Parts: sequence; structure tokens; C-alpha cells
Amino acid sequence: MTAILPHGGVLVDRLAKGTERERLLAEAKELKSISINSWTISDLDLIGVGAFSPLTGFMNEDDYRSVVHRMRLADGTVWSIPITLSVSEEESQRLSVGDRIALVGDQDGVVYGLLDVGGIYRVDQQEEAVNVFKTDDEAHPGVKKLFERSPIYVGGEVTVLNRPEHKRFGEFYFDPAETRRIFAEKGWKRVVGFQTRNPVHRAHEYIQKSALEIVDGLFLNPLVGETKSDDVPADVRMKSYLVLLENYYPQDRTFLGVFPAAMRYAGPREAIFHAMVRKNYGCTHFIVGRDHAGVGDYYGTYEAQEIFSNFSAEELGISPLFFEHSFFCTKCGNMASSKTCPHPKEDHLTLSGTKVRGLLREGICPPPEFTRPEVAKVLIEGMSHQVVI
Ligand code: ADX
Repeated sequence: MTAILPHGGVLVDRLAKGTERERLLAEAKELKSISINSWTISDLDLIGVGAFSPLTGFMNEDDYRSVVHRMRLADGTVWSIPITLSVSEEESQRLSVGDRIALVGDQDGVVYGLLDVGGIYRVDQQEEAVNVFKTDDEAHPGVKKLFERSPIYVGGEVTVLNRPEHKRFGEFYFDPAETRRIFAEKGWKRVVGFQTRNPVHRAHEYIQKSALEIVDGLFLNPLVGETKSDDVPADVRMKSYLVLLENYYPQDRTFLGVFPAAMRYAGPREAIFHAMVRKNYGCTHFIVGRDHAGVGDYYGTYEAQEIFSNFSAEELGISPLFFEHSFFCTKCGNMASSKTCPHPKEDHLTLSGTKVRGLLREGICPPPEFTRPEVAKVLIEGMSHQVVI
């Protein structure tokens, strides 16, 4: 076992197994049901496997309000993002506290799990948006998603009966219990987690390897759940990670596994959430660079780092590793940040995401000081097959 405890002390396991699962599946046929979309299926599964420990279900009102207003569960445990189940007005009228209901996939009719209804409550989504996303601007992708949902939430403990199918890159899915075992088998005591929703460019590589200098292993943990439509699709990214790891990373000190959660784009609050979840996967350290989980200009460059000062090291339990904005400096001839480079901006190679996507779409490799050529090749190929990226 890795030394680090899961968040809240115990790795939650809400997966029904064997005959118990059979019994519950039979019971589900007789129950009232509500339909859930792919986002909620992913949240349900992440609760089930303990990635969201200490959560054992969708939040009830006391936890929800406490998380929205003070970034803690009602019992004081650090938690920054509401994990909630939204139901329509009509569905809510069919439900009562104390009911056991089946959670059924809206696309496939699969019974993904059961929910023991602990509470049904109406929320002020404007208030949620302003607290969680720091804006109620509908142009923000997270706010937009939030406002599309019904403001009626149902809380309660869940039991997972079926896991979502891994249609792509199935060999890179690992539950927290598995990553914990794998890190222990590798003898890694200090493991740094890296969240990304992008291809790994040189700046990412630089901060990952800087971190790797002081820990035993790197857990490259790209998010592959729902992202906004102009982010590079997950299958293209996965290919890019593989060529990068193969060519530039020590095999015995890196481990690639996907994070099947949806991207919230909640910047600072999502950084805390990302760190807590990676602790559950067995990481002792977590990288937070510039504008972590940010989008547009909604968050300050280092706000996702500053937010950690609201909590003590003990209550976080995982050590955040903060990195400045990194770039290639033509004068230094290497990757650097303002902490290590004395030269002015004109000597720094920085390209915006839009600029890079534009180059790749035209089949042009960005400079190797920005993106490794092997990675650029995969991205160009991937994009030429995409109608929309
Ligand atoms: S995120 O939305 O998943 O955070 P991204 O994949 O771009 O976006 O970033 C992954 C991690 O790398 C985040 O911690 C982010 O802060 C960090 N990061 C990205 N680019 C840079 C950079 N140029 N310098 C320093 N940190 C960076």
C-alpha cells in the first residue's frame, strides 16, 4: 500500500459484486427509475470506485450548501466542487425521501446504479455559479452546463451495478485501488499526479520532469471525460501521450492512466478537487501550474495556486507543487520560467493555444521548442481526420 491515506481516511467502495449485484439488478426492475446522462454516469462511477472519496453518493443539501459556500463538506472535510444529481420537475414529483431508485443511462437503458433518496432540494444556480465558477456568465462552459440542468437536485447514497463501457483505450483505465497497488508494486513512495486536458507540450513536460526530479514516479493522468468541443479530442491526445512517453520519458518512472471525469473549467476550485481526487488515486504530490483548469480570462494566472492557502497541509493531505508559467527561452537555450530566467519576454517563445491549433490544422509543426515533433505529427494527423476539433 502507498503511505498516503485516501481523502477522509477510507477508500470508498460502492460497487455491488457477485450475488449481491444480481439481487440488486433484479430489484432494480421493480423500482422507479430516472435517466442519467454520460456526465452523471461518470460521476456515479467515480463515486463507486472511490475516486471521489469520501463521497458515498450524490450530495444532499447540507453538503451541497457547505461546499458551495465554504469549500467543505458539512463535516468540515475539504471539498470544492458540488457533485450532484439533477432531475426534472416531473421526475422530482415522482420521488420521495426514502425511495430506492434505479439510475438508468439515457442513451442505452443500462441500469448503472441505485440511489437511496436522502433528500430532494431546489437550488439557486446563479448562486452556485458565482461561488463555484466565480461568474454567472453563460459564455463560461461550466456555467453554461450548470444552467442547462434543472435546479432540482436529489441526494443520497449510491450503489454501482454496471460500469460504463470503455470503448477507447480501455487498457489505460485504472481504479484508485489499482493505481495504489501499482504504485506500491513499483516501490514508489512519492508520486506526483499530473492533470491535463491538452496534448503535452514542452512546458507541460518541463514542469512534469522538474517534479519528477524530487519524487519517485509521475502519474500522467489526462482527463478523458466530457470537455468543450474545441479542446483536442481524447483519442488524439492519448496517441500523443504514448509517443511522448515512448521517446522522452523514463519508462520505469512514469505511469499513464486516464481520469474519466468531466471537465468543469472551474479554475481554482477545480484545482482543489483535482488534487483531492489524485490523492485518492494514491498520489502524494500534485502539479498546479499556471491557470490550472481555467478557461478564457475568468481566473487570474495563479489563482488556482493561491486557493490552496485556505487549507492546512494536514487537511489537504496531498502536497501541491506550484509552477510558474514556463516557456522556452532562446537566450538561455532551455525551458525556464520567470523564477529561473533573467531575459525579457522577447526572448521567450510563447504561443497561444489558438495559434498552435491554427498551425496544426494547416499541417504545420509548431517549433520543436514548443512541441516535440513526434507529438506534433500525431496532432496534425488527428486533426486532419476530425471534422470539428
Ligand atoms: S487543465 O485545464 O487540465 O489544467 P492543461 O492541460 O493546459 O489544462 O494544463 C495541465 C497542467 O499544466 C495544469 O496544472 C496547468 O496549470 C499546467 N500548465 C499548462 N501550461 C503551462 C505553462 N506554460 N507553464 C506552467 N504550467 C502550465
